[in-house]
Amino acid sequence: MKINGVDSGQILTAVVGDLYRKAANPDFTFPLQVKLVDQAEVAKAIFMQPEVFVKNYGFMESLCVGRFSASGEDWKQRAALTQSFYTQSTVLLDESALVQIYAHHLQAGLQSDRFDLFEIFINAALEVVSKSLGLPNTIPWPMDLVNKTRDALIDQQAMAWVGGTPEFIEQSRRHIAAIFAKFEALWQADPALRALLSRLDTQASGIKNFSAVGELLQNVFAATESTSSGLLWAIECMTRQGDLPLFRHAEQHVEELVIFLDEVLRVFTPVPYVSRVCRQATQINGMTFAENEPIVISIVGVHSDSQYWHDPLLFKPRRQEFIEASYPRHAFIPFINGPRVCAGMKLARQELKCGMLAFLERFSVKPCNESRGLEYGLASRPSVKLEPYLIDRKAGVV
Ligand code: HEM
Repeated sequence: MKINGVDSGQILTAVVGDLYRKAANPDFTFPLQVKLVDQAEVAKAIFMQPEVFVKNYGFMESLCVGRFSASGEDWKQRAALTQSFYTQSTVLLDESALVQIYAHHLQAGLQSDRFDLFEIFINAALEVVSKSLGLPNTIPWPMDLVNKTRDALIDQQAMAWVGGTPEFIEQSRRHIAAIFAKFEALWQADPALRALLSRLDTQASGIKNFSAVGELLQNVFAATESTSSGLLWAIECMTRQGDLPLFRHAEQHVEELVIFLDEVLRVFTPVPYVSRVCRQATQINGMTFAENEPIVISIVGVHSDSQYWHDPLLFKPRRQEFIEASYPRHAFIPFINGPRVCAGMKLARQELKCGMLAFLERFSVKPCNESRGLEYGLASRPSVKLEPYLIDRKAGVV
């Protein structure tokens, strides 16, 4: 949809582009009316005070409320509903199971008449999160509905930044309510999923206006969008990197693969910023935060601090700081840190590694000289279509 004549997706992509511009040039003025935080120490202090700096994801809550967007006591109760699933997920799914899941989805993509890497990785991540939740079947996640949902949330997020006419807001709300109803009907039609939803509803009887469908929707979006985007960035970086032994014999270079992936998460972090609002006026490191002030914490900015990273804007596949583990932990925060750290961080890191092991087993890539760019929806992903650069090792081409 267009807001003031500009496509809402372009508005969000421009915001992330501005975060990169600011990271490259501290004098660049970030155009949005929010306080931008890009210092590692300030970000850490904010993350350690989740009661003062609460989540600010109204755009997401136009679809549903869940642990991702909740704050305070409500968040604690919601997090308790799903945290045990995530804690046990890496035990339930060992690395060989994860490699198999990703290999299977890549193979299925090759056999279909539509090979779309983003969709393949979303489907693989979906199978992983479904299994983590103990479900026998993959959660219904029809791609056309998922794409519509992402687009609708992009509209909402863009409106939160630049405003929208009352008609536009109303139209978008009605559209989102219809999307939610579709997910609800699909999910209730799956017996095992219906049983899980009903169990969550019972466990959550103390949470006001609880919807198990809404809670899980947020969890599934959190689990699938960022993981698939991270894998796309890893492959995009491969196409710019020239040949490395790790790309040919990944299973013999797993440590190097992890270092390569850390560098991908540093430079092309799938979640480039997070949003908070300050509930109580406070000061951190000389920065003042007023009551009810909206704040954007630029993960891109934190990851580009030259105090901690040599040549921070350069992508180095074997970055010394990662090899030596010499960086301070609060300077590398793709999953943030503190109490609101990503609930699936351990699983996500394993998925990136195993997804790449499955990919490298089957594919090599051709060099890409197209100009680099990103698209931002619910996560940042490369704008270049990667499919033309892939070579199926078995067949020669995709
Ligand atoms: C590369 C992949 C991933 C990245 C970069 C990532 C990053 C993040 C970040 C930055 C946050 C914090 C958002 C904020 O504070 O505003 C977050 C939260 C969250 N993530 Fe992830 N994530 C990834 C994968 C996953 C996976 C695989 C799952 C589940 C299986 C997951 C589940 C969640 C949940 C539930 C939250 C909300 C945590 C809370 O209750 O506060 N994420 N993630």
